[in-house]
Amino acid sequence: MTKDKIYTMAIESSCDETAVAILENGRKVLSNIVSTQIDIHKEFGGVVPEIASRKHIESIIYLIDKALEESGKTFRDISNIGVTYGPGLVGALLVGLSVAKAIAFARNIPLTPVNHIEGHIYANFISYPDLEPPFTCLIVSGGHTNIINMRDYGDYEVLGTTLDDAAGEAFDKVARTLGLGYPGGPKIDKLAQIGDSESIKFPRVKLKDDDYDFSFSGLKSSVLNYVNQQKQKDKKIDNADIAASFQAAAIEVLVEKTIRAAKETNMNLIAVAGGVAANQGLRDLMSKRSQEEGIDLKIPPRALCTDNAAMIASVAYYNYIRGIEADMSINAVPNLKLKGR
Ligand code: KG4
Ligand code: ZN
Repeated sequence: MTKDKIYTMAIESSCDETAVAILENGRKVLSNIVSTQIDIHKEFGGVVPEIASRKHIESIIYLIDKALEESGKTFRDISNIGVTYGPGLVGALLVGLSVAKAIAFARNIPLTPVNHIEGHIYANFISYPDLEPPFTCLIVSGGHTNIINMRDYGDYEVLGTTLDDAAGEAFDKVARTLGLGYPGGPKIDKLAQIGDSESIKFPRVKLKDDDYDFSFSGLKSSVLNYVNQQKQKDKKIDNADIAASFQAAAIEVLVEKTIRAAKETNMNLIAVAGGVAANQGLRDLMSKRSQEEGIDLKIPPRALCTDNAAMIASVAYYNYIRGIEADMSINAVPNLKLKGR
C-alpha cells in the first residue's frame, strides 16, 4: 500500500439503498455501486423496514465484491472501512454495520463510524475537488431538513431544523395524496415541470419568521384540504398544477431561509445536500437566487444527492485522518443527530 494514497471502502445501508464505494484520498471515486430497493417497496407505498433489512443481507456481499473489482483494488489496499451507523432504520443499519465489523476484524482494517447526514454534506466534496469549509449547507432528505454552517471537517453549527415533517417526507406525502406512488419526490418534480406553479397559492410556512426553522406539515395539510374541497365541489383536480404549486411553496421557503442564513452569518458559499437536492425546481431557484445575491453555490449531481456510499466514504476518509475509529462494540444509532464539535 502506498502511504500517500488512502483508499477508503464504505458501506451504506441506512434505508432502502444498499451501497458500497471505494474512494482515493476522500474525494476521488474509484467505484460507487448503489442497489436500490425502490421497486420492492413501491408495492407497499413506502419502505417496509423488515424487507429492507432482508434485501440488504441478500445483496451486500455481492456489492462489496463488485466495488473491489471495479476499483481494481483488493482488501490489502484498503486503509479503512467506513460505515453508516445512524440515523436510519435500525435493522437496515445493523446489516451494513455487521458486515463492516466483520471485514475490519478479519482483515485488521480500522473501522470508521459515519453519520449519514454528514455523508450528504460530503457529496459536495466529491463533486467539487477544490471545495473547502466553511460554508452554509441546506440538507434536505427524506428524514432530515437542516440549515447548518460547516465550519471545518467534523465541526458543524446547526442553525435551523424542521419542526415536523422533513422536506422529502412532505414531497412523499403529497405524492401519496395525489396517488403518484413512492417515492414521491421525483414524481412531483416531473409533474411540476408541466404544471402552473401559480395556479394555487399554498402557504409559505415560516417564510417571514426570523429563525432558520421549517415546518411542512401545514403545507401538506393545505394540499390535502385543497384536493378534498375540489372533490366535494366536483371540480377538476389537476395533479400537475397541484404538484407545481406545492413544490413552489416548499422550495421558496427552503431557498430564502438558506440565503438569509448565509448572509446573516457572513458566508459567501452555499452547498445543498440530500435527496431533495435532486429536485429541478430547487436547483433552479437556488441558482437564480444565489446568483442575484452574489453567493457561490455548490450542488452535487443528482446521483450523489440521493443515498450512496461514495459520500459515506468521503466522511470516513476525513474522520480516519483525524484519528476517529470505532471498536467492535459500536452499535447502530437510529436517531443519531448531527453534532457540532
Ligand atoms: O437523501 P435521500 O436519498 O434519503 C434519505 O436520507 O432520506 O432522500 C430521499 C428523499 C425522498 O423523500 C425522495 O422523495 C426525495 O428525497 N427526492 C426528491 C427528488 N428525488 C428524491 N424530492 C424532490 N425532488 C426530487 N427530484
Ligand atoms: Zn440519505
